[in-house]
This record gives sequence, structure tokens and C-alpha cells, in this order.
Amino acid sequence: MTVAAVVTAAGSGTRLGLDVPKALAPVGGIPLVAWAASSLAAVCEQVVVTAPAEHLDAFRDAVAHVAADVVVVAGGETRQRSVALGLAAVRPDADEILVHDAARAFMPVAVSGRALAALEDADGVIPVLPVVDTIVTTSDGALGYLDRASLGAVQTPQAFRATELRDAHARAEADGFEGTDDGSLLVRYGYRVVTCDGDVEGRKVTYPEDLDHFEQRIATP
Ligand code: CTP
Ligand code: MG
Repeated sequence: MTVAAVVTAAGSGTRLGLDVPKALAPVGGIPLVAWAASSLAAVCEQVVVTAPAEHLDAFRDAVAHVAADVVVVAGGETRQRSVALGLAAVRPDADEILVHDAARAFMPVAVSGRALAALEDADGVIPVLPVVDTIVTTSDGALGYLDRASLGAVQTPQAFRATELRDAHARAEADGFEGTDDGSLLVRYGYRVVTCDGDVEGRKVTYPEDLDHFEQRIATP
């Protein structure tokens, strides 16, 4: 079985507000994209990183030390387009593909293992965490309470059979359908997607306080 990974790192990190793309933000002196790629290298034969087109050299430098076959390609306007461009660079003999956000750089590698293991009986696997907050809908000024027990927060890495992931992306592009993750594309086209347990360490770096959290986390293991 050949496993490859696509790391989405082509976003700018508007909410983080640094003068470099978010995936180049350092924690412990190491850029987020390098943390993410190193963790995937433990379970993959190839790691494809999507980077902002104007920063390809900086991203190649950032992942140069990662002990795996790492390829850096330009991402696109949206996360979904970045994944599609990454998929085009994945080796054609890959049977299984993990899609992971560089912004979740500290997700334990065990979650990749769980997702790949659950792929035995599915076309796609998404890591999910229970929702701890009460969630309401606020559109149109109307307040609606959702049943928390039936909700889950979706993380990455998500694992997919390569053929099905490529097909779902091609069909979504043809339809103009934009999902917020890759699992939603497979669900839309009738593929079987299951869940596995996520991990709180896979918290996404979005705001400056998220970077501070992980800086402290690695300083006090
Ligand atoms: N991403 C991407 N290509 C895009 C947009 C986002 O590859 N066109 C990636 C980001 O690099 C990130 C992941 O998708 O690893 C999740 O996106 P998000 O956390 O929203 O990151 P940014 O879009 O960079 O941040 P912001 O929304 O604050 O600008
Ligand atoms: Mg974004």
C-alpha cells in the first residue's frame, strides 16, 4: 500500500496577522509547515505541500530537512483548489491519501494511523471531536439551539482512497461545489465516509493566542 499526503499550506493567515504566510510561522523556531510535514512523513511515502505561489522558495527551505519525499507546489485561491492542485502532484501509484492542514501542525501522528486503519472499510475517514460548547444558529436574526450530542468538530488529517478522492474533487470542480473539507465532497458524491477519534492537540492555529498556546506546550512537554 502506497500512502501519500497533501498538506494545505497556501493560505495567507489573515486572522493570525503576521507578515509571513501562516504556515511559515515558527513554533520552537520551526515553521508550522515543517512540523506538519515531519509528522506525516512518519506514515507516508510522499508529502506534497501546497504553498502560496509567491513563497515557493521559502517553503522549500522550510521543509528541506524533512526526511521524506517532499514536493512543494503552488496552491490556489481556496483551500479546496489548493487540495486539487496538490493532488495533481501526488505520485500516481498512491493508493491512499491523507489531506492535512499545516495549521493543525501539532496533531499527534496516532490520528493519521487511526484514520488510515479505518480506511479498510470506507472510502474516506474524518477525525471528529465532541463539541463542548452549546452551539446556536443566528442567521436571519432567529436564534436556534442545536442538539450538541449529535454534533462533532471535524479535524484533519482526513484519509481517503486515492481514486475516490480524485473523483470527488474532479466532480466538485465540474459542479462548482465548494465544501469546507474533503470529506464533504465524498459525502456529496455518495462515497462512504466514516469518523475516527480526533485529538485536542490538533487544534487549528488561527489567532495569535493559538501560536502562544503551542509555544508554551512544546516548552513544557
Ligand atoms: N489553505 C490553502 N489554500 C487556500 C486557503 C487556505 O492551502 N487558498 C490552507 C491554509 O494554509 C491552512 C488550511 O487551508 O493550512 C486551513 O485554512 P485556514 O486555517 O483558514 O488558514 P488561512 O486561510 O491561511 O487563514 P485565514 O483564513 O485567517 O486567512
Ligand atoms: Mg482561511
